Amino acid sequence: MTRDYAIAEPQTSKASMDALLIQGGSKLSGRVAISGAKNAALPVMAATLLARGVHTLRNVPVLADTKTMARVLEQLGARITFADRVCTIDTTAVKSFEAPYDLVRTMRASIYVLGPLIARFGAARVSLPGGCAWGPRPVNLHIDGLDAMGARLEIEHGYIVGRDVRLRGTRFSFDVVSVGATAQLMMAATLAEGTTTLENVALEPDVTELGRVLNACGARIEGLGTRRLSIHGVKELKPIQTTIIPDRIETATFMAAAAITGSTITLEDCEPLDVAAALHKLEEAGCEILPEAKEITVTGPRRASAVNVRTAPFPGFPTDMQAQMLAVCSVADGTSIITDTIYLDRFTHVPELQRLGADIRLEQNTAIVKGVDRLQAAPVMATDIRASAALVLAALVAEGETRISRIYHLDRGYEAIDRKLAELGAKIQRVRE
Ligand code: EPZ
Repeated sequence: MTRDYAIAEPQTSKASMDALLIQGGSKLSGRVAISGAKNAALPVMAATLLARGVHTLRNVPVLADTKTMARVLEQLGARITFADRVCTIDTTAVKSFEAPYDLVRTMRASIYVLGPLIARFGAARVSLPGGCAWGPRPVNLHIDGLDAMGARLEIEHGYIVGRDVRLRGTRFSFDVVSVGATAQLMMAATLAEGTTTLENVALEPDVTELGRVLNACGARIEGLGTRRLSIHGVKELKPIQTTIIPDRIETATFMAAAAITGSTITLEDCEPLDVAAALHKLEEAGCEILPEAKEITVTGPRRASAVNVRTAPFPGFPTDMQAQMLAVCSVADGTSIITDTIYLDRFTHVPELQRLGADIRLEQNTAIVKGVDRLQAAPVMATDIRASAALVLAALVAEGETRISRIYHLDRGYEAIDRKLAELGAKIQRVRE
């Protein structure tokens, strides 16, 4: 793989031991460019397995997770170049159908290769996933949905195995709205015999965009943007040529940075429509927000007001912003109630925020956050992508210098967030542990 990474290379043993030092109290100002979306790039990269040829993906964020997906595809025989956020993936020589435990355990989204391998080659051997520290995060909907299409998958020695499979159209309804399982079945159904109808599908922009990209390659997917999809199988697809959409979670994270520091910043290259729920919640907390075509200008209040948050599938408030919003509420005026309905125990950031002086009480999947006048710097540890973003936000206002360790979690989901924040005026530096 030709590598040219302008941004610090996470995941190599040295880089994965980095920490961040953040001196609290600085205002932010200026403009920041939003990167391509991790959660849109990963399924599109996996979808390249559906079509033989050279695929070109632009605006691919340089992250540990996109590199892991590149390695999974290389492992299958794809030839990859990844430079200046342009990723070319040549699937002509794909001949292995195994995604090994060593790679899949570092990133749950590796499971996205399962449907495309089964659909195109009739075979796959994909390790059961690992990834974030919380949850059980089952994949039963992925497996049940593919089985409903005739995959006859087996679990053998920790691997999901499919052999001699010819997928055929079916009707499948999701018990719960699942981003990953919707994307999985949508990809698989594009090459299945006949029509597949999927009910209660996810509407996240990452999923709708994947459908749009597949249709541009010759797929026949109807109903994008609604909770029911009809996918008429076709014989083959053309290679993908696309530009990855902006990262809505990174967008909302920077909006929260303006909210917690009481700053005015402008976000460029973003899609305001994709962050409507977070935008409205931050307005409720006292922000002034000016969305324009591909830009958003946010002015945070002198002190945020307490708000209640309940996460839900898109277009509801994203669970991937729950931790960051909790950080904002930890210094807000009043008491906030924050409930995560998607992941009931996604609160590994709470004890770390309490170390910084936050007043938070957990009751099952609800956090009662009593806003405090100030946070105090302390050494804290990142535990997953969004939890680490919440610690960065809290450290921006904590009195003194906060040290955040294990930031390889941050590098999995945010492209150079430390450099971007430093350019906005934050006192932040990356150090070796
Ligand atoms: C995607 O994960 C995102 N990851 C997650 O973002 C995000 O938190 C999540 O969607 C919800 O928005 C990527 O896009 C790579 P789900 P995914 O399937 O697809 C249950 C980040 O920080 N479920 O929509 O794994 C599940 O337990 C990451 O960027 C089943 O029960 O999430 C959960 O309660 C973290 N069985 C709910 O559905 C299944 O087979 C939603 O999960 C699959 C899911």
